[in-house]
Amino acid sequence: MSGLAQRVPGLGYVALGTSPTPVRPLHLDLGADVWLKDESVFGDGAWGGNKVRKLEWIIPEAQRRGARTLFTVGGIGTHWGLACALYGREHGLETVLGLVDQPVDDHVREQLARLEASGARLYRFSSTRRLKLAAPWILLRHRPWYLPAGGSNAFGTLGYVEVALEIAGQVAAGELPAPGTVVVPVGSGGTVTGLTVGFRIAGLDTRVLGVVVNDMLPLDAPAMTRLARRTSALLRDRGLTDVPELEEGDFDLRDDWLGTTYGDPTPASVAEVARAREQGLDLEPVYTGKSLAAIRDLAASGGSSLPGPILWLNTHGPR
Ligand SMILES: Cc1ncc(COP(=O)(O)O)c(C=O)c1O
Repeated sequence: MSGLAQRVPGLGYVALGTSPTPVRPLHLDLGADVWLKDESVFGDGAWGGNKVRKLEWIIPEAQRRGARTLFTVGGIGTHWGLACALYGREHGLETVLGLVDQPVDDHVREQLARLEASGARLYRFSSTRRLKLAAPWILLRHRPWYLPAGGSNAFGTLGYVEVALEIAGQVAAGELPAPGTVVVPVGSGGTVTGLTVGFRIAGLDTRVLGVVVNDMLPLDAPAMTRLARRTSALLRDRGLTDVPELEEGDFDLRDDWLGTTYGDPTPASVAEVARAREQGLDLEPVYTGKSLAAIRDLAASGGSSLPGPILWLNTHGPR
């Protein structure tokens, strides 16, 4: 059951996974005391937590609005778009996807085949600019509810407000020490923002370090503060009192581990994925590998910007 839905009955919620997700010490010799919260097991096992956590709030809101169609955007290998298409369909919603070309490898090819088989209506574009030009026509034709890339609107962000409350519950139950820092990758911002809002609501002074892995979207403190404020306003509107108003200083976002661009593995992230595999963890080098590389580097430089204990979220879904 969702702690947030219990606290804010005015919010629509549909359970799509089993929670709380487990926590345990992480033995990867990162040079610091690191715990793992394993979001990879959330959902039906096919996806992991990151996308499904957001859809638990987006799908009921779409139904409340009377929307019959979701419209969202991403690359031709978008996992978010596929999750939207499959979970949406299960709940009677059609999905329209605006897909922008990206470098094709085997993984992207397979993913595109899954998108084509998903029942979603696909529109393909050679660039983001062309997608933006076509968007008004798509909106007119399908009259959808538009969801930004990665599902990081205020409703999607609630998924990680929920995770922060879940972590607070696990701390209270003695399952892990209160984290000084939580580390997550930042691809569209909902994860880092939801956690930051959620810890404030839970009364924990845990900091969230966001390792920015996407240079295609504005993912700086002003942008995350705006998303946090929209999320807080939504919570207030649906009946939660004493919702914090976040400031830019509440966000610690760093792009030092991005490498050349979004989607490009770095030698450090590839090395983290290989080390994790030896310990039986299945990761990838574009999000999770880069966030582990950040922990290793910051711990090696004295760890002053990384107050412990550290909690690292494995947001990768074993697909
Ligand atoms: C594995 C993984 N981790 C983290 C993220 C980042 O989450 P957000 O988009 O909420 O910033 C994503 C997003 O695409 C992801 O696929």
